[in-house]
Amino acid sequence: MTAQIEIDSVTKRYGAMTVLENLSLSVKANEFMVFLGPSGCGKSTLLRMIAGLESVDEGTISINGQRIDTLPPGKRDIAMVFQSYALYPHMTVSDNMAFGLRNIGVPADKVSSRIAEAARMLEIGHLLERKPGQLSGGQRQRVAIGRAIVKEPKAFLFDEPLSNLDAALRVRTRVELAQLRNRVKSTMIFVTHDQIEAMTLADRVVVMNNRKIEQIGTPMDIYLRPASRFVATFVGSPTMNFMPAQISEADGFAVATLSDGSRLQTGVPGRLLTRGDHTLGIRAEAIRRTGDDEHSATTGTVEVLERLGDRTLLYTRLADGRMIVAEDIGLSRVSIGDRIGLSLDGQRAHLFDADGAAYHAENSGHG
Ligand SMILES: Nc1ncnc2c1ncn2[C@@H]1O[C@H](COP(=O)(O)OP(=O)(O)OP(=O)(O)O)[C@@H](O)[C@H]1O
Ligand SMILES: [Mg+2]
Repeated sequence: MTAQIEIDSVTKRYGAMTVLENLSLSVKANEFMVFLGPSGCGKSTLLRMIAGLESVDEGTISINGQRIDTLPPGKRDIAMVFQSYALYPHMTVSDNMAFGLRNIGVPADKVSSRIAEAARMLEIGHLLERKPGQLSGGQRQRVAIGRAIVKEPKAFLFDEPLSNLDAALRVRTRVELAQLRNRVKSTMIFVTHDQIEAMTLADRVVVMNNRKIEQIGTPMDIYLRPASRFVATFVGSPTMNFMPAQISEADGFAVATLSDGSRLQTGVPGRLLTRGDHTLGIRAEAIRRTGDDEHSATTGTVEVLERLGDRTLLYTRLADGRMIVAEDIGLSRVSIGDRIGLSLDGQRAHLFDADGAAYHAENSGHG
């Protein structure tokens, strides 16, 4: 069983404060949707409204065409997994998983078979008689996921389920979740403020900020064609470089004149933009160190080196005092204090107007 979820013009207030404003989105059946955004932007609130743990002030939420925001949580056929696990400490793992099923009168043999199946899937069969206090954080989170699976819900809602795990376990559990997702055919909504989780797990990402949706798209959509300066800043690490640019046009494309007077031909169609003040955005991977000054768009002094193994990030101070991050090979021979030349790939540059609206090269979504 699966769910197509429709959120239509939903508004949520706490007292005088509006936390979500007139927000609409649809989640397709069997889709893995990630809500991504900074702390406090309303991700959990939206998820809890779908689960029925928060009321909806305006608008509607429907599953498979049936309105559910008026139903009590238990009637929505949705399972939620929390960051805090929320297991009953005095019950065994097995009883924790069985509890919700027994409550709704699922026959005992069915309860056992569903627990056995979930335990097999999550590799927690050997833990079934333990209590939560005797488990590691990662094991507890698996039990919490198991408890959701045995309900065989139409949709799973995950609220930052990995954020209490240490870095290594987080990555492992993330991969397990991706595998689980392939086995359990169900709609999943996953809340996180971690863009790597969003990029790796999502079919589509909903980027939220400041009461509203900034962009809905596939991970590569939001990476390559961020709809706003906010999305461009929030998605991608290191964060995108931004520089003031004066826009003119040549051969139909926007030309950016940077503060040092250098000119960069972009792939952004000139007709999309007004002339004058804009911001150029360019990711570190589109800025390379050049061997000689002749092929350099600009030069600067390296202040910080981050060696990440497969690549090296060069934090470089430009003549105008601005710091930009360029990417070099893993075994970069650059040292701190070196003056280096940089070339910017204009085809991978983005332009933003004063309101933060984004303009991209026409081919930027196609590699
Ligand atoms: N019960 C409540 N009463 C009043 N304000 C609340 C309540 N719950 C949440 N808020 C406020 O609503 C806003 C959205 O909170 P929410 O928990 O949805 O954010 P979030 O995106 O999940 O953040 P985080 O990443 O920190 O979990 C915040 O400003 C928060 O302070
Ligand atoms: Mg939250």
